[in-house]
Amino acid sequence: MSEYTARRRDRESWGSRAGFIMAAAGSAVGLGNIWKFPYMAGGNGGGAFLLLYLACVVIFGLSLVIAELVIGRMAQRTPVAAFRQIAGRAWPLVGALAITTAFVILSFYIVVAGWTIAYMVFEVGGQVASTDGDHLEAVFNGLVGNTWQPIGYAALFMIATAAVVLGGIGHGIERASKILMPALFLLLIALAIRALTLPGAAEGIEFFLVPDLSRVTGATVTAAIGQAFFSLSLGMGAMITYGSYMSRDQNLPADALAVVGLDTLIALLAGLMVIPAMFAAGMTPGDGGAGTTFMVLPAVFAAMPAGPVFGFGFFLLLAVAALTSSVSLLEAVVCYLVDETRLTRRRATGAAAIVCFVLAIPSSLSFGLWSEAQLFGKSFFNLLDYLATSIALPLGGLLTALCLGWVVGPRAIEALRDDDCPAPRWARLWLFVLRYVVPIGIGWILIQGIIG
Ligand code: TRP
Repeated sequence: MSEYTARRRDRESWGSRAGFIMAAAGSAVGLGNIWKFPYMAGGNGGGAFLLLYLACVVIFGLSLVIAELVIGRMAQRTPVAAFRQIAGRAWPLVGALAITTAFVILSFYIVVAGWTIAYMVFEVGGQVASTDGDHLEAVFNGLVGNTWQPIGYAALFMIATAAVVLGGIGHGIERASKILMPALFLLLIALAIRALTLPGAAEGIEFFLVPDLSRVTGATVTAAIGQAFFSLSLGMGAMITYGSYMSRDQNLPADALAVVGLDTLIALLAGLMVIPAMFAAGMTPGDGGAGTTFMVLPAVFAAMPAGPVFGFGFFLLLAVAALTSSVSLLEAVVCYLVDETRLTRRRATGAAAIVCFVLAIPSSLSFGLWSEAQLFGKSFFNLLDYLATSIALPLGGLLTALCLGWVVGPRAIEALRDDDCPAPRWARLWLFVLRYVVPIGIGWILIQGIIG
């Protein structure tokens, strides 16, 4: 019996195939799809962004999701230890970059997740029961411009995340995702249909679906790749952790495809729901920035029968989707601290949550009190987002590809197959993509982004 099999024995595995897919998709599907994707697409040329985004998902995303899952399943360890075991000494640095990135993302993620809680309250209280764009914009700006309220909601969300992480890599999460993710999916379909049939929506559909390549700039490409990585939870080892709970009889490529497909489908649905509604409300795409989804959707709910019920349900499910994502971010940080320091899990979770919350405060204030303070032309929030999403995640992906493509090499193909099947025929193509296409492609995009 190989050492590999022996180690696997005492590691918890996923309850079922659907359980794994739901949990990994739970990490991937979150604010990235529903809050971030629509305003990134809106602000970066609509259809042109969509096209680049899909290209990034297919070329880099899919091969790297498979790569991270393979690393996790091979090593059966958390990311830093996995890199060390597979690739030797220098690679833990990749892990350290990954953990820092997870930390930074979590710090601004909880700010936005806090807004979703606030909007649950607004839907119940009737503050946003209106189709008047100016009113909805004022409500959003009132919330984020307030000093303490959004920080309070972010704290609440951080506490919820820490509570789930303390419960362990929960069967709880697995079970809850199985019910809530399909519910979110159905609700999104209903909302997209309503948005698409609003008067004035047609122009938005065209803007979102028909690429106008004259709008593509270096910045569009950087935004698209960053968004693809952010949405797929790629580039910082989150998927390595999920892979480490996969067993050898699971069909890894098929499962990876399911996760990538679900994530992309949900981003598309969110785009079809928010962008047409934005046009219907007479908003210029790109104007709403980080507030877009929050300013536009309440008008869609208000145009539906039982609007507040839909509105409340939507923000509740969005908060839950955000929770399954934030848990995967905090989990990455906690695993690292437990593996690499002498902290207990409890202490590590508490410490990470507190430091993360402190870092969230300036992010939150950068929408109000500190909105004037700009660095490199960006607010604190946007700067953290840019550095983590558009630089660190693609860089992490590039290093992962180099590690698997060159250091592990053909052994990776062996690790890709499951117990009873030979390696798929396209496995060599996959290795080729990891060796050449990903490093050169991402390297080029990063350089463009930095010079541009
Ligand atoms: N993918 C999640 C979203 O779209 C966010 C997320 C969770 C993430 N874990 C991650 C992003 C790891 C990058 C890396 O909302």
